[in-house]
Amino acid sequence: MVKHARGTGTQFSNLKASIVDSLNTSILVTGGAGYIGSHTCLELLRAGFRVTVFDNFSNSDSEALRRVERIAGKKLGVVNADVRDRAALVEALRASEATAVIHFAGLKAVGESVHQPLRYYDNNVVGALCLLESMEVCGVRSLVFSSSATVYGDPQFLPLTENHPLSATNPYGRTKLVIEDMLRDAYASNADWRYCILRYFNPVGAHDSGLIGEDPQGIPNNLLPFVAQVAVGRREFLNVWGNDYETPDGTGVRDYIHVVDLARGHLRALDMLQQGTSGQCTAVNLGTGRGYSVLDMVRAFEVACGQRVPYRIEPRRAGDIAACYSDPALARSLLNWSATRTLQTMCEDAWRWQKSNPAGYAT
Ligand code: NAD
Ligand code: UFG
Repeated sequence: MVKHARGTGTQFSNLKASIVDSLNTSILVTGGAGYIGSHTCLELLRAGFRVTVFDNFSNSDSEALRRVERIAGKKLGVVNADVRDRAALVEALRASEATAVIHFAGLKAVGESVHQPLRYYDNNVVGALCLLESMEVCGVRSLVFSSSATVYGDPQFLPLTENHPLSATNPYGRTKLVIEDMLRDAYASNADWRYCILRYFNPVGAHDSGLIGEDPQGIPNNLLPFVAQVAVGRREFLNVWGNDYETPDGTGVRDYIHVVDLARGHLRALDMLQQGTSGQCTAVNLGTGRGYSVLDMVRAFEVACGQRVPYRIEPRRAGDIAACYSDPALARSLLNWSATRTLQTMCEDAWRWQKSNPAGYAT
């Protein structure tokens, strides 16, 4: 059952004219309680959209949604259900009167996907299939899909443009590639679909309120949450996976992007789909276009938190690539979007979130 409460009239009083278009537009956000989803829901609410989160909370805490509502001063609709449940999806799409969907729901741990590939295909691929079928039943044609730079495999050239050859090196990446192909096939069969595939580079940081952020379960796989947990005293030191890559300091280079910049990219993508005069299926990179090494990140975090972050150099992590960064030109020209937040802001915001919530939402 969708529960929905609208914001009060006064909250809308000072919205800019460009935003007025979004008033009353309803968006269904699968996986909206997660790290990127919660930040995107906040930006959607602030822009005046009505938002319904559809999440099974398998990797998130409903506290994130309460905090989004608190920051925005507005209510979300919330459906606790699984994207493989077609009936629940159809009901949520109808009850929310959604005109577009942002699909974040999915499992995302690369290592886990190697050990549990079928679970990943089921959750991610079957989930996306059920969503597309339900959208078709309800006549909802616009979809923004969370893909990943992982679909470029081991880069053949840098920076990565959207026409770089696609490949996958693990089951997680393959689920993203299969879903992308499914969208391209569906669009080829019916040009009414409006799909925007967003290929994220490395999302980091948190909202500057310090109230929402990344809350990984168990030992973090990703660099910045691990560094943050070392800084807050939850872990002793960082393992730097290899310093013998062909990069300026030998450690891996990535295109880190502030999660709020990333979240705003989704609003630009929605705008493009809804303003467009025809269907489309477009893939767009969301990155900054700049690469930073592991040691760059450690140093920037040390400045942000004002203390040392001890680390040890360890052998390379299986499956890692030396360097990966985007060419963000298409996002600029097509979506009128580019990332604005610096590496220092990413680290400061990640640190504010970590130190005020040392155990994440369970704090
Ligand atoms: P997250 O785990 O924080 O959020 C995913 C959300 O989806 C969670 O709230 C989870 O409970 C929900 N979910 C998972 N399976 C579901 C299902 N079957 N039904 C309903 N809800 C379900 O992850 P995130 O970092 O916010 O990532 C969001 C999306 O972006 C994912 O699809 C991920 O693959 C993709 N992505 C993430 C990164 C990254 O580094 N964080 C990079 C590239 C792409
Ligand atoms: N790293 C360490 N120590 C750690 C964690 C990471 O040295 O404890 C290094 C890695 O070796 C790599 C860099 O930090 O050089 C970034 O690693 P992450 O695990 O944070 O990110 P990846 O680029 O490996 O992978 C992320 C997501 C994937 C996604 C990919 C591309 O986890 O899901 O970005 O978008 F596919």
